[in-house]
Amino acid sequence: MKVLIVGGGGREHAIAWKLTQSPKVNKIYCAPGNAGIADVAECIAVKAEDIDGICKFAKESEIDLAVIGPEVPLAMGIVDELEKAGVKTFGPNKKCAQLEASKAFTKAFLDRHNIPTAGYKEFTDKEKLLKSVGIYGYPMVIKADGLAAGKGVVIAETEAEAVKAIEEMMGEKVFGSAGDKIVVEEYLTGIEASMLCFVDEHTIIPMESAQDYKRIFDGDKGPNTGGMGTYSPSLVFNKDLEERIRTEILNPTLEGFQKDGLDFRGVLFIGLMIGEDGPKVIEFNNRFGDPETQSVLLRLETDLFDIFDAVVDNKLADVNIKWSDQKAVCVVLASGGYPGDYEKGKIIHGLNRVDQDVMVFHAGTKSEERTVHMGDNGCGIIAKTESVVVTDGGRVLGVAVLGDTHEEAREKAFDNVKKLSFDGMQYRNDIGLIVRK
Ligand code: AMP
Ligand code: GLY
Repeated sequence: MKVLIVGGGGREHAIAWKLTQSPKVNKIYCAPGNAGIADVAECIAVKAEDIDGICKFAKESEIDLAVIGPEVPLAMGIVDELEKAGVKTFGPNKKCAQLEASKAFTKAFLDRHNIPTAGYKEFTDKEKLLKSVGIYGYPMVIKADGLAAGKGVVIAETEAEAVKAIEEMMGEKVFGSAGDKIVVEEYLTGIEASMLCFVDEHTIIPMESAQDYKRIFDGDKGPNTGGMGTYSPSLVFNKDLEERIRTEILNPTLEGFQKDGLDFRGVLFIGLMIGEDGPKVIEFNNRFGDPETQSVLLRLETDLFDIFDAVVDNKLADVNIKWSDQKAVCVVLASGGYPGDYEKGKIIHGLNRVDQDVMVFHAGTKSEERTVHMGDNGCGIIAKTESVVVTDGGRVLGVAVLGDTHEEAREKAFDNVKKLSFDGMQYRNDIGLIVRK
């Protein structure tokens, strides 16, 4: 089988790596991929948002299965277009992709099907919203309705902060049309956790849990990022909680999809707040999480191609998904300055020094030819051109490891993190550090 993976981050590297283990997969392409993905797949120079380019390539190359990583092409309707072109595709269609692309769509869905979530109101008129600041008290949760690369949520502590956020989203349009509509929510307290599920039209199966670290600095300090690391399984979950999530959230969600004619086939990523009165949905994403996927797929024992294929054919119920009991830790190495401005093009050192059983998933990297000065031999400067791997994004690498315990995995991950370096490299030291109360 020939598989095309759309995307070029750590999540896509983990998916590509896992698919190399399938005896059914004999060729993997990735659009656009990155320097690490190039080790396990053939990277093609087509951007993930170039839907025409992707469809053309998939048809010409007779792709048997396309797998979509990121949310933007999903929201643009890449699945509908690939299916029209006759290409089997893993991921939700445009209608279902609204579950991530519109917060108001998701809130209305949750409300309609009595799925626990924060109370909310939506606004399209800035003046009306400004008159309603503080409707649920403070902190005030203000969300741009559309996709904003994970930056569209502001938790305003004061009226002044709320007014500033509203002016930025609706007045200055910092997120473009994503801020035309704003959702204001009740502030929820508790412990945050996410649950990734495989979903087809008849079945929803949670994957093993993973805990993400969203803030940039140790101890959950500093601004939010795309995710600075994960460990799996998450210690937030236990059997009772999983049962409540199954009956109060997963089952009604699947029934809701069926009632609303949402033929969701792909990964549903549920952001949860576990409070005193039980689990509530914070948000839905409709794709694998990044870097949750890096930890979770390390523990998957079942052929990932079989799962993808079954989901697309609505046969997920027939697959017996098995997981390793081992624990996983993934530490993200990010560029200096991230999640704010950062420089690219820094040479990454040490990639060939990491242990054999450690996976270094590339998130933002590319290969480049660089001229390296070797010195002066008296007759002139000696230089040679060599291929190097350089940084090309905010999150650069994810060092992912299995161990018999969280502590063992964590120790091994950090031993290997120390072998890697690039100018400005930053990472959190507390990934996988389980604080037991
Ligand atoms: P979202 O993109 O909707 O997941 O929101 C980003 C982050 O904002 C979440 O991971 C939470 O930390 C926080 N957040 C979102 N909604 C709420 C809420 N209603 N109450 C408290 N925190 C929230
Ligand atoms: N790690 C969070 C996300 O993928 O959205």
